[in-house]
Amino acid sequence: MTATADFQTRLFNFSAGPGTLPEAVLREAQEEMLVYPGAGASIIEISHRSPEYTAVMESAQGRLRSLLGLGEDWHILFLGGGASLQFYMAPLNFLPDNGSADYLVTGSWAKKALKEARIVGDARTAASSEDRAFAYIPRPETWQLTRGAAYLHFTSNNTIYGTQFASEPRVEAPLVCDASSDFLSRPMDIDRYAMIYAGAQKNVGPAGVTVVMIRDAFLQKRRQPLPTMLDYGVHAGSLFNTPPVFAVYLVEKVLRWIEGIGGLEAMQAINERKAGRLYERIDRTGFYRGTADADSRSRMNVTFKLPNEELDARFVKEAKAAGLLALKGYRSVGGIRASIYNAMPEAGVEALVSFMDEFERRAG
Ligand SMILES: Cc1ncc(COP(=O)(O)O)c(C=O)c1O
Repeated sequence: MTATADFQTRLFNFSAGPGTLPEAVLREAQEEMLVYPGAGASIIEISHRSPEYTAVMESAQGRLRSLLGLGEDWHILFLGGGASLQFYMAPLNFLPDNGSADYLVTGSWAKKALKEARIVGDARTAASSEDRAFAYIPRPETWQLTRGAAYLHFTSNNTIYGTQFASEPRVEAPLVCDASSDFLSRPMDIDRYAMIYAGAQKNVGPAGVTVVMIRDAFLQKRRQPLPTMLDYGVHAGSLFNTPPVFAVYLVEKVLRWIEGIGGLEAMQAINERKAGRLYERIDRTGFYRGTADADSRSRMNVTFKLPNEELDARFVKEAKAAGLLALKGYRSVGGIRASIYNAMPEAGVEALVSFMDEFERRAG
């Protein structure tokens, strides 16, 4: 890694998603691109029912099971359609005609999930932080929960606003979680969940696959009949159609990489160190201003602003020239967003902190 961005250099990539992947995983995939060992062809040229692909998929499921501590009563699915399809598919399966579901609206993705659920049935806002541009996670004592709700939906990490639930909501309703942007960044208290879904393209792999995990007892409560492709039961039964094979293949490699780091507790310790370094730098002087409330800050997406928009733009441009890619905040929010997913090395965060020091000396 050099500090200058020439044509061939792989830079420190702070993209919010698709985001940076472990270099070792990409190299391994590169080596196997022409021939997957023993298959006589690459993994994307053979049947999704071949022994080779079946082994890859089962290995990915087994590794997810052991990393997260999922019992045999959990179904693990690899679906297409993105996390966005789950916004509709989850209520379609689990929001009954004679019931309701609660939603914690902590960002744009959560709002989109609620919108889709309302197409299906009675989906209610239990809490929202839209009053302050989603800069915080509402305190549990302010939530207006519905007794007997079919589920409570929440977004564990809000990619755009840089906020994150510190821990799982403690409610009676089954938890359905959009974990797209912090999946496998820390351990989860699995017993609290009925369903977890995550688009892979931030922490777990490339775009194209969404990991969907559902507890069997919850799955059995789904509505019937459902369109075949939108029925979780169909996908839990057997491989119904062609899965996103290349994406699953890469996910399996990323899961091995996480195991090599030491699992989710080790991953969490590294992620807290990385986020801690950045927030400490932001808070050290008045030049940078964190946009999320301190108690709601995300360990995955660190959002901040400089004294004015001109400086924001200059920061992004000069950071890129210094080898730090994709630091521009989400289009409707502005400012800076540094996404520091699992695969962002600590050296990348150190390089960003040094750049922030240097930029402040020049522009502050
Ligand atoms: C928290 C969260 N949920 C859902 C989505 C949408 O995911 P997809 O593009 O896979 O539909 C995103 C995308 O960035 C996200 O960050």
